[in-house]
Amino acid sequence: MATERTSLFIFFGGTGDLAYRKLYPSMFNLYKKGTLREHFAVIGTSRNKLTDQGFQDEVRKSLGTAKSDKEAEKFISHFFYEAHDVTDKEHYSVLRDRADELDKQFKLQGNRIFYLSLAPSFFGTVAGYLKETGLTDSKGTDRLIIEKPFGRDFDSAKQLNDALSKSFEENQIFRIDHYLGKEMIQNIEAVRFGNTLVESLWNNRYIDNIQVTLSEKLGVEERASYYDNSGALRDMVQNHIMQIVSLLAMEQPVSFTDVDIRAEKVKALRSLRVYNVADASTNFVRGQYGAGDSQRAYRDEDNVPHDSTNETFVAGKLLFDNYRWSGTPFYIRTGKMLADKFTRVDVVFKKPLIDIFSFPQNHNAPLEANVLTMFIEPKAGFSLRLNAKTNGQGFQTMPINLDYFVDDKDSKDTPEPYERLLHDTLKGDGTNFASWSEVSYAWRFVDQIRKVWDLQQPEFPNYTPGSMGPAAADELIQRDHRQWFYRLNK
Ligand code: NDP
Ligand code: BG6
Repeated sequence: MATERTSLFIFFGGTGDLAYRKLYPSMFNLYKKGTLREHFAVIGTSRNKLTDQGFQDEVRKSLGTAKSDKEAEKFISHFFYEAHDVTDKEHYSVLRDRADELDKQFKLQGNRIFYLSLAPSFFGTVAGYLKETGLTDSKGTDRLIIEKPFGRDFDSAKQLNDALSKSFEENQIFRIDHYLGKEMIQNIEAVRFGNTLVESLWNNRYIDNIQVTLSEKLGVEERASYYDNSGALRDMVQNHIMQIVSLLAMEQPVSFTDVDIRAEKVKALRSLRVYNVADASTNFVRGQYGAGDSQRAYRDEDNVPHDSTNETFVAGKLLFDNYRWSGTPFYIRTGKMLADKFTRVDVVFKKPLIDIFSFPQNHNAPLEANVLTMFIEPKAGFSLRLNAKTNGQGFQTMPINLDYFVDDKDSKDTPEPYERLLHDTLKGDGTNFASWSEVSYAWRFVDQIRKVWDLQQPEFPNYTPGSMGPAAADELIQRDHRQWFYRLNK
């Protein structure tokens, strides 16, 4: 059994899609593992008028359990409900009284986690009222979890952060980036800093380029109104991709703690070249999907304007101006309605300077580059491509792969990102959350691309569903005499 953690959780937006689909099931997993047991309680809030009983019924549905499931019923008995409009300042005192009452009943030592799982426009308001009405005055720890998106550009993110900082210290704010809760993203650090073989080659002398692909098979589904105001650049690049890139690019932290890891990620992001107008136009391309065989074009999706210029695909080249990475580009791409759903990182090493096996009489194919692939999802594992001799007489070489994949049983036991992130918050460990400095440098970079794109009319649609994006994404990398390592029909 895990160490039991003690806290009250107050969910703002406690009846929303995220809460029911991800948060409560993740908490139940923590309960089954013993991280949550006797000393926790939950107050769900929204404007909806529910009783405690009614809320518990909804939570049961979200867990998919029956009333006969004794463990689930014990867990659910820790859930309570308050109808609460987050804009109604007076009503926070009702929440405070309920919180104090539950604190005594469950011996929660005044520890509180405030989870803001509602529209981002409310984040600042809630944080302010929590402080002003004394909900943060209990004797224990106060932690604030903030859902994405954290702003829509640097200025709005800063405004939000300034508002939050009036009520909470930086080490009390946990900004969710669910990619940081993924098993294989956390494995980047293990592979880099746990292996002399890897870390000694992890630089521009040996690595030719690094490619990060976050590919989605689905379109915008029912989130079109949000997505059409966001686009792939804000929705995926500013947060998830920038986080992955900073883990790949950072120096070794002094110790494996949130403070030291974040310091290195920030240092890496500070040396990321922020593009001027010309470089932003050359080094980033965007796309929007058209119609496919049985698929509507993005512009024909429900709640999307017919003349939308929103991008559903981004590819780009990132350059770090530092000693380790100067001259080694990071190529990134992400999009909706692509060939398949997967996330992977391909680290392409430089080819041997001299290919001594390539002499005319043996018709040997030229040596391939070594490639270390990190498969993030859906399969989790690594593959290292080496060159080796073929079996038998003569001397031919061929690429071989050393593979490791997490087996199906272990995969099933892998905690969901939200379970891991709730657990980390209970421990007060900010390693797998985005710090304000990281968020701000990521926005500074992305804002430049956005600014340039907003001035130009794109020629959309420009890719077909089921492809790997527009031709421009291939041209972007081919211009540098390189190719995407993952290609269709390769
Ligand atoms: P929903 O729209 O499903 O839920 C919103 C919740 O906020 C509801 O409980 C709603 O209840 C409540 N709410 C709205 N207005 C008020 C108000 N004035 N006072 C009190 N409560 C209010 O949103 P999601 O659950 O999908 O998303 C929540 C957050 O999580 C957002 O920031 C979103 O960007 C983020 N997110 C969601 C993901 C997902 O998969 N759903 C994925 C990644 C991030 P009521 O209207 O009854 O008050
Ligand atoms: C979210 C984006 O942050 O990540 C979605 O808002 C996207 O648009 C999702 O679909 C992808 O996450 P995952 O874990 O399914 O790769």
